[in-house]
Amino acid sequence: MRKKLLVGNWKMNKTPEEAKAFALSSKELVDYALAHDIDVGVAPTFVCLQTVVENANKKMIIAAQNVNEHDHGAYTGEISIPMLKAVGISWVILGHSERREYNNETSEACNLKIKALLASDMTPLYCCGESLEIFEKGETKEFVEKQIRAGFAGLNAEEAKKVVIAYEPIWAIGTGKSATKEIAEDTIAFIRGVLASLFGEEAAEEIRILYGGSVKPGNVAEYMSQKDIDGALVGGASLEVESYHQLIEGMIK
Ligand code: 13P
Repeated sequence: MRKKLLVGNWKMNKTPEEAKAFALSSKELVDYALAHDIDVGVAPTFVCLQTVVENANKKMIIAAQNVNEHDHGAYTGEISIPMLKAVGISWVILGHSERREYNNETSEACNLKIKALLASDMTPLYCCGESLEIFEKGETKEFVEKQIRAGFAGLNAEEAKKVVIAYEPIWAIGTGKSATKEIAEDTIAFIRGVLASLFGEEAAEEIRILYGGSVKPGNVAEYMSQKDIDGALVGGASLEVESYHQLIEGMIK
């Protein structure tokens, strides 16, 4: 049985002070969610990670939004796995469509990062998803399959089980135009099928796959009602504690 998961991707939002305020006021919510078998987390910017670790409920998942696969060296502007570990981070979002678009992050680059994270006992949250153009051409599945195969290349089943996936159609991100629950389920079930062909049914059944793209308190329950959708990666609606609380309520329903 896969445990439900809600992750708030804060993107480039919040100062350390604002992030600290969220961390403090979400402490009880984390226990409440866990009492209903829902794991919850947030992904602050690098400069906010430490304050969120120090002030949040210790059981809250705190993820970075990127990492470099090298431990140290001449990589200006980058942050390494040992640096994240040193401030208590064990989850990292990889391959978000915004990083793919604005920072040329490829699935192949994500694969190196996934391997480096797994070698350090950390959890990669690997994002995939197609553009509106690909969706309208009816080529979503081929596109997403390539992202999954490249991201998971060279992993064995035990390693693959430790990766969490988020399917985020780009046309649904920040647009208010969420994918219907049927579209989200269809693609996520397809992804699970790809994982089964790569790593076997048992591993595929264990891998958590989230939906992301204009998830709100009012629609999260619809996604959670689907067989293969294990939770949500949420942008805008995760920024305020009240809305984050309502997302958890929606997931409990
Ligand atoms: P929104 O929830 O703001 O559409 O963002 C989704 C997303 O990109 C989460 O990673």
